[in-house]
Amino acid sequence: MFSLKGKNAVVTGAAAGIGRGIAVSLAKQGANVAVCDLPGVPADAARDEIASYGVLALTVEMDVSDEKMVNRGMDAVLSVFGGVDILCCNAGINSCESAEAISIESWDRHFDVNVRGALLPLRRAVPSMKEKKFGRIIFTSSQAALVGRPNQPAYCATKGALVSMARGLALDFAEFGITVNCVAPTFALTDISRKRMEDPAYREFVLGMIPMRRLAEVEDIGNTVVFLASEEAHMTTGAVITVDGGWTVR
Ligand SMILES: NC(=O)c1ccc[n+]([C@@H]2O[C@H](COP(=O)([O-])OP(=O)(O)OC[C@H]3O[C@@H](n4cnc5c(N)ncnc54)[C@H](O)[C@@H]3O)[C@@H](O)[C@H]2O)c1
Repeated sequence: MFSLKGKNAVVTGAAAGIGRGIAVSLAKQGANVAVCDLPGVPADAARDEIASYGVLALTVEMDVSDEKMVNRGMDAVLSVFGGVDILCCNAGINSCESAEAISIESWDRHFDVNVRGALLPLRRAVPSMKEKKFGRIIFTSSQAALVGRPNQPAYCATKGALVSMARGLALDFAEFGITVNCVAPTFALTDISRKRMEDPAYREFVLGMIPMRRLAEVEDIGNTVVFLASEEAHMTTGAVITVDGGWTVR
């Protein structure tokens, strides 16, 4: 079950953190993977790890908020792979600024990266998915879409937007065999969260909120994405799958 042999995957924000974990999990199941990340962000280590599973691995420079760069990057992937079966829109930012403190530029940047950055690659991938009558689109949302998180209104709003977008798109694409789902992780120790986790009191608070009493590992999220990316998940669409050790069921 859950073999992805011969499938072509694109993962954004895949040079590090959760994106890299997703990319590696997909490769372990046999998928070829395009590692997309910002220009200048070193992605070779992720590419080499993926290639070590005997699949094709590419690096693609792409700011997901930049339409021209996304189109160029996606076209490069399509020309090498010949099609995209699995698209993981994972790149995201979180500056943790309150409603009163956040600048309008920062607010807009959250929407540009976290929401527009899901739309743009998707638009380029969907025609090839429609042609094959198979597609798996997976957004990395967050538990912040489901429960309140203090002092990060832009992040919460963008992660909620992905959930709503997935539900709408699930209806639009079902007839083409394309599913659209979200994973909603709790805290994982990556660059986006590391600074806050260095505060022992904050870490203790976080662990106290997670009934499983540990942070998410990138593999936890990768394994969930493997399921959503698989043929076997055909009947799961428009869903939000939490990877939160129980935080949101409190
Ligand atoms: N780490 C957590 O606790 C946590 C929890 C829930 C959800 N998430 C979500 O998981 C996703 C990945 O986060 P992470 O924890 O791995 O963070 P991270 O900062 O370690 O990795 C994010 C990656 O995205 C890339 N990126 C940032 N802006 C980009 C852009 N405009 N275009 C292309 N790539 C860009 C970065 O270069 C980096 O490689 C994000 O969407 C984040 O919101 C993270």
